[in-house]
Parts: sequence; C-alpha cells; structure tokens
Amino acid sequence: MRLVLVGPPASGKGTQAASLCDRLRVPKISTGDMLRAARAAGTPLGVAADRFMSAGKLVPDEVVIGLVDERLDAEDARAGFILDGFPRTVPQAESLSGLLARRGQVLDAVVQIDVPRGLLVERATLRRTDKRTGQIYHLKYNPPPPDAELEHRADDREETVAKRLDEYEAMTAALLPHYDQQGLLRRVDGVGKPAEVFARILQALGIQ
Ligand code: AP5
Repeated sequence: MRLVLVGPPASGKGTQAASLCDRLRVPKISTGDMLRAARAAGTPLGVAADRFMSAGKLVPDEVVIGLVDERLDAEDARAGFILDGFPRTVPQAESLSGLLARRGQVLDAVVQIDVPRGLLVERATLRRTDKRTGQIYHLKYNPPPPDAELEHRADDREETVAKRLDEYEAMTAALLPHYDQQGLLRRVDGVGKPAEVFARILQALGIQ
C-alpha cells in the first residue's frame, strides 16, 4: 500500500505511521526525520534546512523532493510506503505523482488527521522522542519508560509551534482539495487515544 499522512504539526502522523508500518509491513518515509538526521550529521543540506526548520518554516520544495526521490529507490520502498509529512504543498504533490509514475506506481490514499489547533500546542510542547529508538512519547498522554534517552525537539517550543501551525494553514490548505478532487482523500478524527485513531484510519482505508 502507498499512503500519505497529512495533518498539522503534532496531530499524530508519526505515531500513526509507526502503527501502520507494523500492520502493513512497509517503511515509514518521514521528511522531518530525514531533515533532522541531515542536520544532526551536519551535512550541507542539513545546515541549510536548519534555518527554515528553526523558524517554523517549510524547507524549499526542491530539497524535500530530492530526498524523497532518493528514498523511493531503496529496496524496502518498492512494495509500498507510508509518507509522513510529505507532500505539504501542491508542487510537492505534483512532483510526487511524477516520481511515482516514473516507477509505474500510484498512491492508494491520502489520510488527513484532523485535530483542533487548541490541542496541538500541548501535544507538541510535551512531546519527547527516544534518541536511540526514535519512539515518540508524550509526558502526559504516553509517558516514556525511565530508561529512555529523551530528546526535546527545538521546534517544539511554544512560540515555534505557533509559527509551524500558521505555516501549515498557509501552505498546506490547498493540498487537501487537490487530493479530494482525485478521490484519494480520507478524513479521520485525530482526537482520542492513539489506538482509537488507528482504528478509524484502518476503517477509512477499508482494512479489517
Ligand atoms: P515534521 O517532523 O514532519 O513535523 P510536523 O509535520 O510538524 O509533525 P510533527 O512531527 O510535529 O508531529 P506528528 O504529526 O508526527 O505528531 P506525533 O505523532 O509526533 O517536520 C518538521 C519540520 O521539517 C517542518 O516544520 C519543516 O521545516 C520541515 N519539513 C518536513 N517535511 C517537509 C516538507 N514536506 N516540506 C517542507 N518542509 C518540511 O505526535 C505529537 C505528540 O502527540 C507526541 O508526543 C505523541 O505522543 C502525542 N500524540 C500522538 N497521538 C496522540 C493522541 N491520539 N492523543 C494524545 N497524544 C497523542
């Protein structure tokens, strides 16, 4: 299955992508994770991307499209994937169609996770990630085990979260009608326990 997860910052894309990967046995492809890895490695791409990420802005389309193009060539992505956080703009969506067409592939669905803005700030500011495993936790809703090596994302400070939410509304709004017109969009309520949201996603995809 080839899926895209769309939703505002901290709506639960990474959490749901992990569950979908386990269930569908396909890899998660997260442009946010790839950009953070490039930044941590200090590559020129990572250094350039950091300016945008720290400001809560989207990284330029050509940079993320290049990353996804390369990642889709990996053996594990041939049979399917969960794209988490890509595409976010109509130009990225059009490029993705081209990248898939070149490989003789098409998208099966685009899942939009809806969460009201008021809940997103708390989800982001209390998020912690285990550096070693990449596992996503929340200090209130999904507390980490005592031995986790916790990392607090720099862009999860309250003032940057607000900028990321504004950027999402400004840049990503046009993406949803784009996929709706193609009959690919599935809207899912992202409020509730992660397992409840996961069950709604499976239902929206027609998976038993
Ligand atoms: P990215 O890493 O993609 O960030 P994002 O889209 O802002 O999404 P998040 O990772 O913040 O949240 P999420 O939806 O995955 O939620 P999560 O599951 O962690 O991108 C970061 C930056 O990189 C961007 O700002 C941009 O600069 C750049 N970038 C990336 N892709 C790009 C692109 N395509 N184009 C241009 N620039 C790009 O959950 C959040 C928290 O809530 C966690 O603590 C979790 O435990 C908790 N939680 C999850 N589900 C629930 C639930 N149901 N109930 C209660 N808590 C929950």
